[in-house]
Amino acid sequence: MIPVILSGGSGSRLWPLSRKLYPKQFLSLTGSQTMFQQTLERLPVESEPAIVICNEEHRFIVAEQLQQIGYQAGAIMLEPVGKNTAPAVAIAAMEILQRGQDELMLVLPADHHIADIDKFWSALTRAEHAARDGNLVLFGIEPDGPETGYGYVHKGATLSESVFKVASFAEKPDVATAQNYLDSGEYLWNSGMFVMSATIYLEQLQRYEPDMYETCRKVFESSVSDLDFKRLPEAEFCRCPENSIDYAVMERTDKAVVVPLQAGWSDVGAWSSLWDVHEKDAQDNVLLGDVVTHEARGCLVRGHDKLVALVGVEDVMVIDTQDAVMVVHRDNVQAVKTLVNTLTTQQ
Ligand code: GDD
Ligand code: MG
Repeated sequence: MIPVILSGGSGSRLWPLSRKLYPKQFLSLTGSQTMFQQTLERLPVESEPAIVICNEEHRFIVAEQLQQIGYQAGAIMLEPVGKNTAPAVAIAAMEILQRGQDELMLVLPADHHIADIDKFWSALTRAEHAARDGNLVLFGIEPDGPETGYGYVHKGATLSESVFKVASFAEKPDVATAQNYLDSGEYLWNSGMFVMSATIYLEQLQRYEPDMYETCRKVFESSVSDLDFKRLPEAEFCRCPENSIDYAVMERTDKAVVVPLQAGWSDVGAWSSLWDVHEKDAQDNVLLGDVVTHEARGCLVRGHDKLVALVGVEDVMVIDTQDAVMVVHRDNVQAVKTLVNTLTTQQ
């Protein structure tokens, strides 16, 4: 199985720590290593060297972070622009087929947190078997709210122990639909992690997104090796339609199956998720750095180089960095993205 590490996101809801030139996946948010490094470190020992696919702006960060943990990637593929995950996975699949290696891919976002690695590995074993039978396997998470930023998987027939056919897949439903899904108890969130054959993914992509498939094929054919990197040509790649694997393939295919995963998964999408995954003090605060509090509850502070003091506040998140400080209420953490989009500098 060949890991494919998707590292092209911008992580804008974690501003002001996550920046365009230094996004979330390259930050240490949940431990001493960065999210990207943790993703590689939790791979099973028997997996082959990973293919990393990222924006070319981040090539030196990727190379440096690989070197820090002594990880030799199979390839580092550089996208001149972001076209979302469907083309990124397609190009990695083409690379895998060209090498003639085991063609099973383990597609992993570079910015997820998983607390229980053993449970992740056992779900992975089930997923691998199902993928060898020709299925496109996703890992499903028990939902705990009507989140609209996730894909929802309707569990269908049982194929084997803890492996279910996907009866339907709805990417990012509106809140009323998400609430119905939640109430029914029959849906799981898509974790965005997949196990699938490179050949079958490309067949499905060609069927549902023929233009994208064709453009990716041309892009891959004219890619150029440059030291440790493989560069994708800008002019061709700019012509590629933009779409996520979820809309392009997972919503449409009849080959999707789901393996439930209960391993303390989080996509650390917003500051409140960081609060979720960290240990709290007696007042339910997560205090990172030099922080004092008096009658503060449910807060998150990520300090930088000065003392941060909280008095008489609840559910407030304070993020201090060298050039920006942000204070946001827990109920508004999703709107940080909107704020960042209005900034012309300091993105
Ligand atoms: N190489 C590359 N190129 N990677 C990308 C690109 C790109 O253009 N765009 C996104 N990524 C990476 C991101 O870094 C992230 O790790 C992963 O792909 C998923 O992208 P997101 O932008 O975070 O997707 P999402 O959060 O909207 O939705 C996906 O994840 C949810 C779970 O976190 C979907 O798969 C949902 O169905 C799922 O519930
Ligand atoms: Mg995400």
